[in-house]
Amino acid sequence: MVTTLQPPIEIPREWYSIVPDLPGKLPPVIDPVTRKIADKALLHRLFIDELARHEYSNERFIPIPQEVREAYSIWRPTPLVRAKRLEKALSTPARIYYKNETVSPSGSHKANAAVAQAYFAAKQGIKRLVTSTTAGQWGTALAFGCSIFGVGCTIFMSRSSYDGKPYRKDLAEMWGAELLPSPSTRTAVGRKILEEDPHGPGTMSIAKSEALEEARGDINARNSVGSIMNFVLASQTVVGQEAIAQMAAVDDYPDVLIGCVGGGSNFSGLFWPFYRDAVAKKGPKEIELIGAESTAAPRMTMGEYIYDHADAMRTSPLFKMYTVGHRFVPPVVHSGGLRVHGSAPTLSLLLHEGKIKPVAFNQLEAFEAGSMFAAVEGILPAPETAFAIKATIDEAKRCKETGEKKTILFNLCGHGLLDIEAYREYRSGKMSPGDADPAAIRKSLAEVKSLYPWLDQSS
Ligand SMILES: Cc1ncc(COP(=O)(O)O)c(C=O)c1O
Repeated sequence: MVTTLQPPIEIPREWYSIVPDLPGKLPPVIDPVTRKIADKALLHRLFIDELARHEYSNERFIPIPQEVREAYSIWRPTPLVRAKRLEKALSTPARIYYKNETVSPSGSHKANAAVAQAYFAAKQGIKRLVTSTTAGQWGTALAFGCSIFGVGCTIFMSRSSYDGKPYRKDLAEMWGAELLPSPSTRTAVGRKILEEDPHGPGTMSIAKSEALEEARGDINARNSVGSIMNFVLASQTVVGQEAIAQMAAVDDYPDVLIGCVGGGSNFSGLFWPFYRDAVAKKGPKEIELIGAESTAAPRMTMGEYIYDHADAMRTSPLFKMYTVGHRFVPPVVHSGGLRVHGSAPTLSLLLHEGKIKPVAFNQLEAFEAGSMFAAVEGILPAPETAFAIKATIDEAKRCKETGEKKTILFNLCGHGLLDIEAYREYRSGKMSPGDADPAAIRKSLAEVKSLYPWLDQSS
């Protein structure tokens, strides 16, 4: 029984940006000091020029430089796999496919964005990229990308993940990067937070503040991000474009697309090209989009669609997005990549327009699904990815009840081979669900809304 669908498709030549095809205009990014639309120059000071330019451009298709396609050829095109053993185990009439992004050198989809950013940094003569990471997948992916294009790399990794995932540090260092636990003593932000709470677990937004400060202090460095921004999400669309070609080769097309959602990059990378198909009236049917998040940071299901900062120290401009508040500290869970306070403005807009169905699971539910997937399909998923698998299993079970023969495609966005300690904890029965406290979310949101009374914060 051959389940891997690997027709001779080519690596895409363009990235696709959903921005011109969105159902409404993206709310502008606001500078809280001037109270006006954020100055584009600010973005250029922080980020690689090409990344900043793409952020504001309305281009639909962006050519992928040949050097980046060559780097992609190390692991792309990635396999599209029919999960027949999972279908059988669930006795479902649904057809389940997954796009296997675990085959990248760093083990996840994050490498798609990382090589692109490292390439544009090298082209601009930038000597070092500075970034933040939670689970470490983005950090190691950027370390890998930078090693290919000869760019230095500094990574701030939130302490809870730094302590829990020591092998990510080794991997990043082997690719020549420097990886620090956040909060760290390297930055003023980190020192201040450590003074207040020397043993705090850190958060993505604290690590972001540190990365921003570090990059600002070095004229030869720029900040780099692994999600949220339009360009980052666009650089993931190689996933969906390949999937369309691979599914066409077996004469199938999804009814449902599923991805886990942190900032939103792997899910958007999968669904944007299908969304484009629908807009261009090329898609044969309407597709349901299901985004799975963690109950530790339930932005989509319990957050609000308001303006918020991307970082804890409020140094970033304000983005309109689904958020639980930039100072909210989610419970420490193993899916660090979903332990983020806000999701991408593009994804948030689509969610607000009712185009995406959000679902939330606790980590016990996700690890149960991830363990089942490993047992029947053989690949151990990253804890984040296990949330998409849980949503997929639920959908397939629903099909069993209704008899619907839906085609489900999900993004197997990362492997969990470096998360084995987390699976051990799950198997020992000592893992907690890791649900956020709803009262703490309400408090955090009230604080965000009281910060800038001149802003229209109606969602
Ligand atoms: C394997 C994996 N999946 C998902 C995510 C969530 O990020 P995003 O929503 O941008 O894909 C991360 C983030 O670190 C990750 O490492």
